[in-house]
Amino acid sequence: MASKKILVIHGPNLNMLGKREPDVYGTTSLDDINKRLAGLGKKLGLIVDIFQSNHEGAIVDKIQEASQKHEGLIINCAAYTHTSIAIRDALLLLKGPVIEVHLSNIYKREPFRHKSMVAEVATATLCGFGHSGYYMALEAIARMIK
Ligand code: DQA
Repeated sequence: MASKKILVIHGPNLNMLGKREPDVYGTTSLDDINKRLAGLGKKLGLIVDIFQSNHEGAIVDKIQEASQKHEGLIINCAAYTHTSIAIRDALLLLKGPVIEVHLSNIYKREPFRHKSMVAEVATATLCGFGHSGYYMALEAIARMIK
């Protein structure tokens, strides 16, 4: 049987992980996170596709594509979490589970980060676990789509 496909989307500035505010986001690079996700995906019998963009429209395009190709989505929308109605609306196209991930605990930070457009349409949210949140999300999705 063909492996199920999961998409992971990383939003703006997450390509700078490791260098960017390491006290908040940690010292692990996005490349390291992606390698671990791919390895864990293999163990779980999933194909993990990964996409990073600093552009809102590119993320909307990818979510639209995922609605045809992927069984589940893990998304860290980064700053667009707090502003993007376009991404929120695109997420409603998806039939499978959508897990919102944030490295930091957005609810312990500035008030403008307390509002998530994504949380309102996501299946679940993981925040404040650092990069472990991504792996927890992948394990959770594997169980959900079994
Ligand atoms: C973030 C939290 C957002 O508020 C911020 O804009 C980010 C990263 C996180 O992973 O903690 O870029 O999504």
